[in-house]
Amino acid sequence: QTAPDPAITELQDWQVYLGDGVDAAPYGMPSKHESHVVRRTVEWLTADNVSSINFTPLHELDGIITPNGVCFERHHGGAAEIDPAEHRLMINGLVDKELVFTMEDLMRFPRENHVYFLECAANTGMEWAGAQLNGCQFTHGMIHNVMYTGIPLKLLLAEAGLKTNAKWILPEGADASAMTRSIPIEKALDDCLVAFKMNGEALRTEQGYPVRLVVPGWEGNMWVKWLRRIEVGDEPWHHREETSKYTDLLEDGTARRFTWEMDAKSVITNPSPQAPLTHGPGYTVLTGVAWSGRGTIPRVDVTLDGGKNWHQARMSGPSLNKSMHRFYFEFEWDGKPLLLQSRAHDSTGYVQPTKNQLREWRGENSIYHNNGIQTWYVNEKGEAENVEIS
Ligand code: MTE
Ligand code: CO
Repeated sequence: QTAPDPAITELQDWQVYLGDGVDAAPYGMPSKHESHVVRRTVEWLTADNVSSINFTPLHELDGIITPNGVCFERHHGGAAEIDPAEHRLMINGLVDKELVFTMEDLMRFPRENHVYFLECAANTGMEWAGAQLNGCQFTHGMIHNVMYTGIPLKLLLAEAGLKTNAKWILPEGADASAMTRSIPIEKALDDCLVAFKMNGEALRTEQGYPVRLVVPGWEGNMWVKWLRRIEVGDEPWHHREETSKYTDLLEDGTARRFTWEMDAKSVITNPSPQAPLTHGPGYTVLTGVAWSGRGTIPRVDVTLDGGKNWHQARMSGPSLNKSMHRFYFEFEWDGKPLLLQSRAHDSTGYVQPTKNQLREWRGENSIYHNNGIQTWYVNEKGEAENVEIS
């Protein structure tokens, strides 16, 4: 005979007193019991928080959509606070007629809706030299997955009329960093969007309100926020963000350049260092996310023993092009230590490599494009830790 459970037998305040009426929160916020679900920064990573990064709490989320309030932020000059009435988007350079659009003008172009992940090229970059940060929020949280509403960029470029020698575009941000990146015209005319809504509501200030460029599958740095200008040219501009930054220095001293596409990658979000197993041995739900800048993720494998045995995980939720995918693997935990890993396969047939394979190919000089397999060690108590196995 066990003692009665007061959560059942005692009257709770919320049963005795009326709750808040409607309109207590004109713009709703999560329950106060969820206040730990927040973006977090790593103090020592950057010298100042206006040119810095915080991380999406992947271990607290489920499904495939990132809620707007916890989408990681990466600013090079702080988040610009722009009055949409004062915002203009200019198209200039190798076009028949240079154009300037107000936000009102943009609202009169046909729109599309697409779900895409945005991953910073530096995501997992702190892990090149070995396991470092304890939590998937910090190792893999420079990513978010959002439904965008926007105008296909090709419609705006067609309005201006591309000259025959138009081969590249240079989007520019209105923020203090005036972020610019060269993008080949083929990509601009393919699936890029000039987006003004995320998950149905206006872009958040942090994500580039009132307009940002969406460059599906390509590194986050190119998704220019607070988009104010698109210059059309016949060759790349070789600006700072594509020379000294966002290039991948190799072992022999040469650098890979224009490595735009984000390769297939996955991570187990639960259990993980910030989300230990607290229920003891028995039935256990493992879950995680996978994505590829080259297509969809038809399959993810999971191992509990550091790669000796692999099991095919169960995919659940929409499988969309260049979007995050959700996987689950349910198992009976015997209470012994675990070495958890996940391995993504994308629709091109590419399989996520190990970290050591990546190091063989590319050395350890670069911080960008680390899509190696992540390992979590789970001890008998269910506590998890970031480790590497050879
Ligand atoms: N655009 C502008 N104008 N300024 C910036 O600092 N940062 C870039 C990109 N676009 C940046 C920008 C980088 S490095 C990344 S990873 C993404 O925006 C981050 O987008 P997010 O803040 O919505 O997560
Ligand atoms: Co970035």
